Amino acid sequence: MRGKQIGIAVIGAGMAGAAHAAAWRAATTVRSPFPRPVKLTAIADIAEPLARDVAGRYGFERVETDWRALLDADDVHVVSVVVANRLHREIVEALVSAGKHVLCEKPLSDTMEDARAMAQTALGAEASGQVVRIGFTFRRAPGLAALRELVTSGALGEVVHLHGRYLADYACDPQVPMTWRYRGAPGSGALADVGSHLLYAAEFLAGPMRSVAGAHFRTVVTERPLPLGSTVGHGRGEVSAETEPVTNDDWAGFTAQFDVAAGTFEASRVSHGHPNSLRLEISCREGAAVWDQENPAEIQVHTRDIGGNRDVDNGFRTIRLGPGHPYVGEGFPMSAPGIGFGQNDGFVFQARAFLEEVAGLAEEDSWLRNATFEDGLHNMELIEAIAASAASGGTPRTIAR
Ligand SMILES: NC(=O)c1ccc[n+]([C@@H]2O[C@H](COP(=O)([O-])OP(=O)(O)OC[C@H]3O[C@@H](n4cnc5c(N)ncnc54)[C@H](O)[C@@H]3O)[C@@H](O)[C@H]2O)c1
Repeated sequence: MRGKQIGIAVIGAGMAGAAHAAAWRAATTVRSPFPRPVKLTAIADIAEPLARDVAGRYGFERVETDWRALLDADDVHVVSVVVANRLHREIVEALVSAGKHVLCEKPLSDTMEDARAMAQTALGAEASGQVVRIGFTFRRAPGLAALRELVTSGALGEVVHLHGRYLADYACDPQVPMTWRYRGAPGSGALADVGSHLLYAAEFLAGPMRSVAGAHFRTVVTERPLPLGSTVGHGRGEVSAETEPVTNDDWAGFTAQFDVAAGTFEASRVSHGHPNSLRLEISCREGAAVWDQENPAEIQVHTRDIGGNRDVDNGFRTIRLGPGHPYVGEGFPMSAPGIGFGQNDGFVFQARAFLEEVAGLAEEDSWLRNATFEDGLHNMELIEAIAASAASGGTPRTIAR
């Protein structure tokens, strides 16, 4: 080992906070020996038992119940921000001012004002050598990365149209208690929560969206009971008889125009039978390909040569990605064909890419850099445009940049 030790902390020990904690622990075990020593320093959460549980499970040295304790801590250099979206700005700005490298969860925030300010903060920080990134984890899924390679290599020809959906079921049950996920303006619900991943993934494949249209939102469960205790992630638990109105979207549908391609999309948190289904299908001039998060290291491809004999065997061929793919070959201790891959692995690869940037590894020697706050701001601008389209009966909205 050489170089200065990198101390890591995670703020938020909820559903995704635990995934970040586990990912930092594993980040130095993938690819190749990491050139700097890494210390798992602290988990910060206002719910101390939760922080203790996550710190204990993943080997972090201490817990904090006030994230501000991390600001002056000399043994903390890298911090994940994994709390409710409305808390991101205050925490990120304070961490950046304190000189920390920051990996913030998506979406960047819950308001455009905060998102713009955060993107400015990140620009300033990056100019002084800090790494400030946002976690659009799915870009690390081998299958989505493989679809992007099919597009960028030209193997399928120009993308003509996309169909994308992120269907989840976590809000189907009306007894799931009120949490931060169900509060906020239209667009801050399913669209921001799971749709932000869908938007990022669609642009990962087809380039920037130029306009959106035909947006429509539905709130299916209009009231939710207040929780009697603390909640984590999509969790249930004891609820009160008192309810609070749900103010944002359970389902969002819209169309989008890219430079060339057009697409139709939907994001939902009330789709029975779909616990976590992010799926994209690209139709191109020379073929088509499909990726579904339910089988993240698998894709389906159709070209003239693969399943393209119309009279005999027209259809898609399923391809299981093997160790020839970097995330499979370098990402697992046992990198053999047919080994499984899950969403948690994406957090590990994201953490590894972040540490590589902090350690100063050249971009060409690193895994693909994580997305910037500018990307996060653009993602929020898409959400804003879709919400504006929905509020005006589906009229088209141009994307600002
Ligand atoms: N990339 C992904 O796949 C993914 C998945 C889930 C969530 N997320 C994102 O992660 C973030 C957190 O989501 P979640 O589902 O983990 O939320 P969660 O509700 O499960 O957890 C949030 C945690 O923050 C803690 N908290 C609240 N106020 C705090 C404060 N002031 N200081 C410290 N801790 C505080 C809560 O006690 C809770 O443990 C959100 O931005 C969400 O969009 C990303």
